Amino acid sequence: MNEIISMLYLWLKSAHLIFVIFWMAGLFMMPRFFVYHQEAAVGTPEDSKWIEREQKLRKIILNPSLVITWILGLTLAFNIGAFSQGWFHAKFLVVIMLSGYHGWMMGYVKKLARGERTMKDKTLRFVNEVPGMAAAIIVILAIVKPF
Ligand code: HEM
Repeated sequence: MNEIISMLYLWLKSAHLIFVIFWMAGLFMMPRFFVYHQEAAVGTPEDSKWIEREQKLRKIILNPSLVITWILGLTLAFNIGAFSQGWFHAKFLVVIMLSGYHGWMMGYVKKLARGERTMKDKTLRFVNEVPGMAAAIIVILAIVKPF
């Protein structure tokens, strides 16, 4: 099994990065959707449209990309024995935090669908910076492997 994965390693790594891009695209889009969504009054047709858009982004892009990125990333990690390497420990930690951010966003999608708006637009714009910063740290850790 490990030999087959080694032969396909670069293909799997390419697939990993393709799904990382889809996942990040979704993570960047969703808080923007939240800001526009909150401009529409609860119960209006505009509100329903945003609920539908958020559900589609969640089901079609965000959740599948997270799952596939994790599966491919862990496959690569087991193949190269990354669990004993310092850069990977740090990357793993940041990716877990990013997955937590993903989980928080999924919770807010459900809140908005129930008509609850607990976050201010300013806070949403601020949290929108989280995936960009996390991605920068993860890419440096994965490519430079500083430790
Ligand atoms: C979800 C959990 C993830 C795991 C378990 C994981 C694991 C891995 C592993 C083991 C490699 C191979 C490194 C090598 O061949 O030297 C890799 C490559 C890479 N990963 Fe991830 N990764 C994950 C998520 C991410 C995320 C979220 C990003 C970016 C935001 C990312 C960016 C990269 C990059 C840029 C590479 C290419 C490194 C290179 O070949 O030089 N990964 N990943």
